Amino acid sequence: MSSRTFHTADEEATIALGRELSRELQGAVLLIGDLGAGKTTLTKGIVEGRGAATMHEVSSPTFTLVHQYGDKDPVFHIDLYRLDEEHEVETLGLDDLFAGKSLVLLEWAERFPALLPARRTEIRIEPNEDESRTITLTNIEPR
Ligand SMILES: Nc1ncnc2c1ncn2[C@@H]1O[C@H](COP(=O)(O)OP(=O)(O)O)[C@@H](O)[C@H]1O
Ligand SMILES: [Mg+2]
Repeated sequence: MSSRTFHTADEEATIALGRELSRELQGAVLLIGDLGAGKTTLTKGIVEGRGAATMHEVSSPTFTLVHQYGDKDPVFHIDLYRLDEEHEVETLGLDDLFAGKSLVLLEWAERFPALLPARRTEIRIEPNEDESRTITLTNIEPR
């Protein structure tokens, strides 16, 4: 389980990091951090880097729960903030998404550990005292 750490000075730098990381990300990717940390901002860069949509088309799925960007090689962006119970999450059909080949970006999914695939990537975003963010990427392998 190896981790890599990045620092981004501002919103633009976080989007640029997302574009860069988009080339290597696959499967389930948890975006972890408090409200306003930059999870959706990083998603803009990832989605754009994949060529699935432009960053301006990416918005928070807080109320819609699931956004799909692109058709051929889609990126799914999911926000579980508004859900409290596992059975609510189960209605979203995440298992089917995880079984497929698509990139699935998830906000607040760490609240439902039982529903997550053993093989996944976790990206932690921590605000610093200035505008910058410390972003740590960890690939988690099944044991
Ligand atoms: N270095 C940075 N990286 C990402 N966002 C930043 C940064 N500095 C300031 N921001 C601001 O923080 C907010 C992050 O919001 P958002 O990405 O929606 O957070 P989350 O999805 O984690 O709740 C945006 O308003 C963005 O402009
Ligand atoms: Mg968000």
